Amino acid sequence: MNARTKIIAGNWKMNKTVAEARSLVCELQGRLATFSGCDVVLCPPFTALASVAKLLESTPRIQLGAQNLHPAPKGAFTGEISASMLSDVGCRFVIVGHSERRRYFGETDAFLRDKLLAAVSAGLHPIFCVGEELADREAGRWPDHLRSQLQAVLHDLPPSILMEVVLAYEPVWAIGTGRTATPEQAQEAHAFLRQELERLHGNSVATGLRLQYGGSVTPENAREILAQPDVDGLLVGGASLEAGSFASIVLSVE
Ligand code: 13P
Repeated sequence: MNARTKIIAGNWKMNKTVAEARSLVCELQGRLATFSGCDVVLCPPFTALASVAKLLESTPRIQLGAQNLHPAPKGAFTGEISASMLSDVGCRFVIVGHSERRRYFGETDAFLRDKLLAAVSAGLHPIFCVGEELADREAGRWPDHLRSQLQAVLHDLPPSILMEVVLAYEPVWAIGTGRTATPEQAQEAHAFLRQELERLHGNSVATGLRLQYGGSVTPENAREILAQPDVDGLLVGGASLEAGSFASIVLSVE
């Protein structure tokens, strides 16, 4: 048995003005007013963090996350945001290694490892994303791909750091495509990740870490994916932009 509280996060990506963010949060707070069945994390764009943080003061169970950070503590990095700035504005979580950052911004494993360490040092929980491309899935190479992504960033980290991490499995072919992994595919990949965590870091890390699935999650498919034994939560993109669909995904946690 374990105490892996389910965790549903919404990654808003590059969407929502401050006014739109505020109205989405208020509607969500209304729809989730009586719900306490899992952790909920909202990851708005940087520009909306402060105003969303203010609104979330009245519902501490809904927590704030950022979508990115720079690993340096401060300095001449024009356009970047540090971990301590995120924590200062009220963030508790930060997404690290999203496939869109890896693909469009050339983020390497070494850079992601620095980000993850910076996040944990500032008291943030990194939501660390891994996931294979379609070609790797079709060629049956997904386990090798996941193994190398995990190993490159998490190798030799102590349990005290690893236990702060939420690991998100986001197959690239399922992101924004409407092509969700089947519950069986999600379970198989999550079980594999847990097995790799056990090999690298031992049983307590492997059984204690929370694993999320992300990729075309909708209110229709959330429940079945969440029912898989190694799936502890969801990282939701498109369906988190609308209060009705995100709330219904959250409410599908049993
Ligand atoms: P979609 O839910 O839009 O497929 O996005 C998933 C994602 O990238 C969340 O980080």
